Amino acid sequence: MPRFLPEAEDGPVRTLANTAVEGDHFILAAGAWASSLAPCYGSTLSTAQAVGYMRLTEEELERYKELPIYINFSIGWFNFPPHRESRMLKMAIHDWGYTRSPGPEEKALPGAVISIPPLKAPRERANFVPVDGEKRLRQGLREVLPELADRPFERAALCWYTDTPTGDFIVDLHPDYKNLFIAGGGSGQ
Ligand SMILES: *[C@@H]1O[C@H](CO)[C@@H](O)[C@H](O)[C@H]1NC(C)=O
Repeated sequence: MPRFLPEAEDGPVRTLANTAVEGDHFILAAGAWASSLAPCYGSTLSTAQAVGYMRLTEEELERYKELPIYINFSIGWFNFPPHRESRMLKMAIHDWGYTRSPGPEEKALPGAVISIPPLKAPRERANFVPVDGEKRLRQGLREVLPELADRPFERAALCWYTDTPTGDFIVDLHPDYKNLFIAGGGSGQ
């Protein structure tokens, strides 16, 4: 079996920042990016999901301090407990998500088949969700925490994760490379 990565024959594996990574064994645990960096043969699909952040007042923070993680699977809306220091309430939609076709430079990646998160800088998440994503964030809020339903989001973003057909994680040696272990498919569905 060949060794990971093909480029290693011409020198060490390099990160985007051009740092050499040398070693006999590699563990690839790169979240939604993992499946574009090694071939996954259709066993994974990386998608982006809508996330919203809303700032609470001190009073609301007190009122919601025991708020549990809650999800309504019919609409996919879920929330995290409010963050004490930032007073931020984070909520998101758990669903099929949005795909993003690889750009011209990304097409050469071994796993860049259908959808991949942007690989290059800026790595900071854009303050953006598609219109229907924002609508769904609000719809869930209206149902679960109606008094917050009309407050503007402080920030919205897309959160990438990787689905597998069965919903199982993939934690295994890669079939093509005897020295590559993958931890991926942190499956949303
Ligand atoms: C989940 O959302 C659906 C659709 O809006 C609603 O009918 C249902 O009552 C909600 N379930 C709970 C437990 O809130």
